[in-house]
Amino acid sequence: MIKEYLKAGYPAICLLTQEPHRAEAVLPCEGWRFVSWDCLQGIIDLEAKKVLEEIIDPVEAIRWLDNFGDTVLIAHNLHLFLEAPEVAQAIQNGIIRWKSIGSALVMVSPVIQMRPEIEKYFHIIDLALPSDEDLFTIQMDFAKKLNVKPNRKAARAAKGLTEFETETAYALSLVKKGYFSTRVVTENKAQMIRKSGLMEFWQPADIQDVGGLDALKSFIANRIRAYESDGESLPRPKGILLCGVPGTGKSLTSKAVASLLNWPLIKLDIGALKNSLVGESERRMRQATQVIDAFGEAIIWLDECEKMFAGTKSSGETDAGTTAGMFSHFLNWMAETNNSVLVMCTANNISQLPPEFLRAGRFDATFFVDLPTKAERIEIIKIMNRKYKTDIPLSWADRLTGFTGAEIEQLAKDSLFDGIDEAFQNLVPISRSMREEINALRDWAKNRARLANTPDNLETGQRKLRTVKKKGGDTKH
Ligand SMILES: Nc1ncnc2c1ncn2[C@@H]1O[C@H](COP(=O)(O)OP(=O)(O)O)[C@@H](O)[C@H]1O
Ligand SMILES: [Mg+2]
Repeated sequence: MIKEYLKAGYPAICLLTQEPHRAEAVLPCEGWRFVSWDCLQGIIDLEAKKVLEEIIDPVEAIRWLDNFGDTVLIAHNLHLFLEAPEVAQAIQNGIIRWKSIGSALVMVSPVIQMRPEIEKYFHIIDLALPSDEDLFTIQMDFAKKLNVKPNRKAARAAKGLTEFETETAYALSLVKKGYFSTRVVTENKAQMIRKSGLMEFWQPADIQDVGGLDALKSFIANRIRAYESDGESLPRPKGILLCGVPGTGKSLTSKAVASLLNWPLIKLDIGALKNSLVGESERRMRQATQVIDAFGEAIIWLDECEKMFAGTKSSGETDAGTTAGMFSHFLNWMAETNNSVLVMCTANNISQLPPEFLRAGRFDATFFVDLPTKAERIEIIKIMNRKYKTDIPLSWADRLTGFTGAEIEQLAKDSLFDGIDEAFQNLVPISRSMREEINALRDWAKNRARLANTPDNLETGQRKLRTVKKKGGDTKH
């Protein structure tokens, strides 16, 4: 994988990977001698697998390379020594010499940790994680040794894991279940998201628990075909934006999409990735999208994304610039990734979102989620009666005009303690206290978003139309 660079005479390469041992296995190529160095073992000939020189000192090791042509020194953890002036100097001095004798230093490191003195000399490449085929080969090794049936699906599920992690996940699966279990591998993979510390796993919701929002539900149900095996030619949606009144089920629906697709649900809080160190926020953002790409199929959930932009205006240019930078990285990643991901983004307050965010084409669809209609309130009452074993009469749907799903849920919960009448009296729906904001949202949404709800009047209007037509037909007869 580095042959072309060696041929072109690159004298210094930084190989980014969490798998130093695998790097040693995949790098060697014809035409060069490959040796490795670490600060405990010294210099090792990778072909003969024996110690060449017991050089522990990093400066000595780097200078050792000056004496050998067509040689590649794979240096482990050298980045930990870069603070020493002698190390930086040895690299600087070596570069020209190595270039002239066809040798190269390969620094193997999990992070890019350069010093300005040397960074321009290095070319950075990523060691790709094991491919589907690699993962299956690892499994076959186990399968043969232990006489277990291989399972291609479990091999695919390991996508995104290192070789080491794959081996341990398979081993765990064999210990727990006695076969290669896709589920055990996937659960193990969840570690990757947790260890990154950048995102969280969430429990998906059941679509049966979402009342109303039929237009949104059918949009999603239709698009899911693109992810099924016979829908490969269909364009896959990348992102859906849900805006609207708080408590109307935007978060709930986002979580339900994960169970519709049977994909894991990963919550990404871009605001929490922010860090006061210069450049660190952007780096963490990039890292998050890399982890997602490595992870594979997933719903990426950005809840209340406007919060990320809150305060950027007042807290100065740099913060606003950082936020914008992070978000533009995210949106570009979303447009370009080949991975099977669907971004579900929610927002309560669109006036806090920057215009570029709402620009057409960013999301496959923008939905406006309004207060539930009467028919929807009836559905929600049924859901809450089921969930809390209450018996709010369906006729209350009229009295609950202007109540959100979250408020109907609150009513159900309170009614268990206070009785339904008292519970009702003590609830002030948000639609009363935020009337102006809600009207402004509706105005905004008119020409910019699809409506997630099916309006009662439209429904009855259509019904009327239909009956009129029918009548007309009747009179013709
Ligand atoms: N349309 C709905 N159908 C069923 N439950 C709902 C609905 N809308 C809200 N709820 C209830 O209220 C809770 C909070 O709603 P949420 O999805 O967080 O609203 P939003 O994200 O729009 O502010 C949900 O977990 C659910 O229990
Ligand atoms: Mg929410």
